[in-house]
Amino acid sequence: MTHLVYFLGAGPGDPELLTLRAERLLRECRVVYVPPLYGQTFGELLTDKELFIPFEYYFADLIAMLKEQLTKGPVAFLVPGDMTFFSPFQALVDALGDQAVVVPGVGTANAASALLKKTLDRPGVCSRTVLTSPRTLGEVPGAPSMRELAAPGVTLLIYMNNLPFAELVDQLRQGYGKDVPIAVAHRVGLPEEEILLATLDSILDKVGSRDFFNLDNTDRRPALTLLLVGESLMAEADSSWWDYRRDHIWKSREKS
Ligand SMILES: C[S@@+](CC[C@H](N)C(=O)[O-])C[C@H]1O[C@@H](n2cnc3c(N)ncnc32)[C@H](O)[C@@H]1O
Repeated sequence: MTHLVYFLGAGPGDPELLTLRAERLLRECRVVYVPPLYGQTFGELLTDKELFIPFEYYFADLIAMLKEQLTKGPVAFLVPGDMTFFSPFQALVDALGDQAVVVPGVGTANAASALLKKTLDRPGVCSRTVLTSPRTLGEVPGAPSMRELAAPGVTLLIYMNNLPFAELVDQLRQGYGKDVPIAVAHRVGLPEEEILLATLDSILDKVGSRDFFNLDNTDRRPALTLLLVGESLMAEADSSWWDYRRDHIWKSREKS
């Protein structure tokens, strides 16, 4: 029998954000690859498992271990957030081919939007959302800067910030050309969860000397901090849209 490797979107850290499907598959696997943080927060679901930290192994060794483990049963990987954005597991999924199954989860962006109680698009206010990272932009010659991505009508989701915060805020202020809301979503879904909501002109005072991005730390690992920027974060929804849609869109669908 061919067993499978499940890449389970594990959400930002809170096990309650695991989907029912991911939880069921996790229970079926005895061997689980777990980033260190998830080893702590998912403790109760991992008690009877054989645990491995994926980032401790070279790629070829990892594939060899997986092939051996798959002769005995299915294997699970807990994927931080969800595979959709900035996931390091793509090469493994590609190498495993049909033996890999990707299970969607709650991305950090979804969990942060829920904390803010805001949809990140807003008719008439925000027409596009850009998910980006100054870290990955820096790896592509000719890629736009954060200043070029920031513009009125854009909601920016900024992962893995590696720029000094004052420099990033300055670039965003230039790009938007006005003061717009910004949220610092730190350790979302974890016991130390914190969300700071301010504007580009006031966020530096609010953050003070705190290093939300691990920039002062020698290991320079990306911090568990997501930035959200744009008018949609504080815009009030126009309730007349509801009745307009009821009359022109939803009502006609009901009949068809
Ligand atoms: C390699 S990316 C992984 C993103 C993940 N695939 C997702 O869907 O959320 C890591 C970055 O995601 C963001 N992030 C991940 N977990 C987070 C959390 N619990 N709270 C806030 N930001 C988080 C941070 O910007 C961090 O630097």
